[in-house]
Amino acid sequence: MGYKYCLIGLVFTLSLLACSEQKRAPTVLKTPAVSTADGVSQSVEVRQAQAQPRSVIAMDVYKSPSCGCCGKWVDHAEDRGFSFTTHHPADLNKLKTEWGIAPQYQSCHTVVSDDGYVFEGHIPARFLQQFLAAPPADALGLSVPAMPMGSPGMEMGDRFTPYQVLLLKRDGSAEIYGQVSSPLEQY
Ligand code: CU
Ligand code: CU
Repeated sequence: MGYKYCLIGLVFTLSLLACSEQKRAPTVLKTPAVSTADGVSQSVEVRQAQAQPRSVIAMDVYKSPSCGCCGKWVDHAEDRGFSFTTHHPADLNKLKTEWGIAPQYQSCHTVVSDDGYVFEGHIPARFLQQFLAAPPADALGLSVPAMPMGSPGMEMGDRFTPYQVLLLKRDGSAEIYGQVSSPLEQY
């Protein structure tokens, strides 16, 4: 009698587990208690879901074909969840000005997002993620003017110049979006 109830209880628990498994995020692995054929197939499914690449943000990058630091910055950002279509326009500076990036905020490469935001220069990828997660009102985009030594794509041994990430506004003004005082703050 006791055994029978126990078995019914076990089946009931397993079906509950199976049910709740399906609702959970794929990162949660099954509990070891489930070892039925069903449980095994679920765990295979879970592993496949984890192997899928995480969502990638695709954007356009405009740069000079001869600029090496731009390519290194692209590698930095592609390692951190972005992908780029590369363009080599004949007159890059004219495009930057058309997009509203004043000369004092310009750097080498310019990224344009699907939403039309611009990201100028060697901005650490984490600031792009932060910005895109919650774009400030009236923002044009972000910029790291010039090319600070030690910024992503501008690595030169352990040489490092502290710099600021600027928030460019649609009215042409800019304010400080982030301060980068040490190499580690970039990652
Ligand atoms: Cu550069
Ligand atoms: Cu560049």
